[in-house]
Amino acid sequence: MLSQPLSLPCGTTLKNRIAKSAMSDSLGDGAGNPTNDQIALYERWAKGGLALSIIGEVQGTPHFAEKPGNLVLNNHSDREQLVRLANAGATDNAQLWLQLGHAGAMADAPISKPKGPSALDLPGLICGGMSLDEIHALPAEFARTARLAKQLGFGGVELHAAHGFLLNQFLSPLFNKRDDDYGGSLQNRMRLLLEVISAVRDAVGPEFPVGIKLNATDQLVGGFAEDEALDVVAAVDKTGVDLIDISGGTYFPGAASSSDRAGTGPYFLDFAGRARAKTRIPLMVTGGFKTLAQAESAIADGMADIVGLARALVVDPELPSYWLSGQRSKPLFPRFQNPPEGGVTAWYTMQITQNAKGEAALAPEDLETAIEAYESRDEVRRRVWNSMLG
Ligand SMILES: Cc1cc2nc3c(=O)[nH]c(=O)nc-3n(C[C@H](O)[C@H](O)[C@H](O)COP(=O)(O)O)c2cc1C
Repeated sequence: MLSQPLSLPCGTTLKNRIAKSAMSDSLGDGAGNPTNDQIALYERWAKGGLALSIIGEVQGTPHFAEKPGNLVLNNHSDREQLVRLANAGATDNAQLWLQLGHAGAMADAPISKPKGPSALDLPGLICGGMSLDEIHALPAEFARTARLAKQLGFGGVELHAAHGFLLNQFLSPLFNKRDDDYGGSLQNRMRLLLEVISAVRDAVGPEFPVGIKLNATDQLVGGFAEDEALDVVAAVDKTGVDLIDISGGTYFPGAASSSDRAGTGPYFLDFAGRARAKTRIPLMVTGGFKTLAQAESAIADGMADIVGLARALVVDPELPSYWLSGQRSKPLFPRFQNPPEGGVTAWYTMQITQNAKGEAALAPEDLETAIEAYESRDEVRRRVWNSMLG
């Protein structure tokens, strides 16, 4: 099942049904450019047998980054390093896509002035609201970044409309309190997403893969929820999108995020089944896949066309080759006792660095030191970011 190729509407074929879902790898150099460790990591993942690998949170400008380790793709970028990255990630006929991010209200405050659909002053979240002119500039900005990704040789792009970042903020009534054409009814709240899709498609032409990552639900009372998400899937079906990557949860302060979550997965398969009835666009389902049997049945049962793995490919970067040859069923996941909010994601982020450098794996007991290393590295990069890009 997992070995079957998957054809996307744009004409690109993915060589099998295993994807590395987008992760913010925190391996940028602090000035928005790729490091050699990052290039080595995407080559390693590609050699591990996956069909598609997506780099998380690539920014079109330095102004609304999620973290100071993000890549920034614009006219100031180090093109040579980016071309090396694109080539390394395409080793063995894998596809390397960039997830186009904009953290909006949740932009990393020390390196930005967070701004979302509406001004908010909540515990842990203070942001300004965007003007109409600022909103109108966004589709062209995403389009410019997508065009550059194509020029540099990346295989495709994924628009990040999940997890509480900008395009999800517009969808979510928790963030979006606007009373103009971009707020209120769902039709208005999804307007920006549809405008961005259309601008990106126009910029890259019909044959370049464009995906979106969409929340099935924010898993928050008053947030974006399943019935509305199904209506968004139906609206996206009428656009030129090649892959809908279904996820959920959010980094809204105090909320549950998929990357910190423990428990039995996969998380969003029921929703994927409902989404299937709304669209013919191929579906990727991400979140909570732990075993070969789960991945195979998601495909066999018709819930997903391709499975997205994040943490499984951090603990076992070569997992796809084992799964494709039926050799290993389960990666070894760490178990943490009462981790702090964000701690699990920080541990995985530092484990990504170990993989990139080819160094020994972290143990679950390293949680506290991993969190410290993660935070102090970001502090250093914030200084670089502010001096180079601020
Ligand atoms: C370290 C780390 C960083 C992540 N960064 C991103 C990101 O930049 N963009 C994104 O869409 N999801 C991101 N995620 C979420 C994953 O793509 C995925 O949705 C989530 O981890 C659930 O999948 P899993 O159970 O296979 O890990 C991240 C996850 C981890 C562990």
